[in-house]
Amino acid sequence: MISRGEERLAGILAAIAATRAGLPRQPPLLVKIAPDLAEEALGPLVETCVAQGVAGLIVSNTTIARPESLRSPHRAEAGGLSGMPLLERSTAVLRACFRLARGRLTLVGVGGVASGADALAKIRAGASLVQVYTGFAYAGPGLVPRLKAELAALLRREGFTGVADAVGTDAQGST
Ligand SMILES: Cc1cc2nc3c(=O)[nH]c(=O)nc-3n(C[C@H](O)[C@H](O)[C@H](O)COP(=O)(O)O)c2cc1C
Repeated sequence: MISRGEERLAGILAAIAATRAGLPRQPPLLVKIAPDLAEEALGPLVETCVAQGVAGLIVSNTTIARPESLRSPHRAEAGGLSGMPLLERSTAVLRACFRLARGRLTLVGVGGVASGADALAKIRAGASLVQVYTGFAYAGPGLVPRLKAELAALLRREGFTGVADAVGTDAQGST
């Protein structure tokens, strides 16, 4: 059955395809998703993206959930939550997308990455590319070389020859 969500997504992607058709260059089109989607929504979403020629998924945007671990007096404020409290959930959704996509979509892992270990968790869950946002805002540009050095050391220590070798190696466990 096609749900209203997939119908709307397919409509948006068809409109984008029609607009891009006239362009001299066709950069890859990536769809960014929320970490709050129900697990049963992910399969239809992935299939809609594949059918519409999308190149990849960015997993994920900020969350509207409020994990129990939050201690700030502002924890009940409305809006998208980013950073460390998002790491676990966004990585679980990434892992589910990797399993569902079966190599048909490139996955970008984002959400709570602040170290090489976090980046490796994203890669092992299925990310070929990793984005930092909140971590970059807190640590500044120095985060990038530190994260790269940590990631390179971890990859070596775990016996991987490079990032590509590690992609999806942790995607068989439960979400
Ligand atoms: C203040 C702020 C503004 C953002 N603006 C955008 C945006 O314009 N477009 C977008 O795709 N994501 C936007 N994001 C989401 C981030 O790109 C990222 O997906 C999310 O914050 C999770 O990653 P992080 O935990 O590293 O911040 C924004 C996030 C924050 C905190």
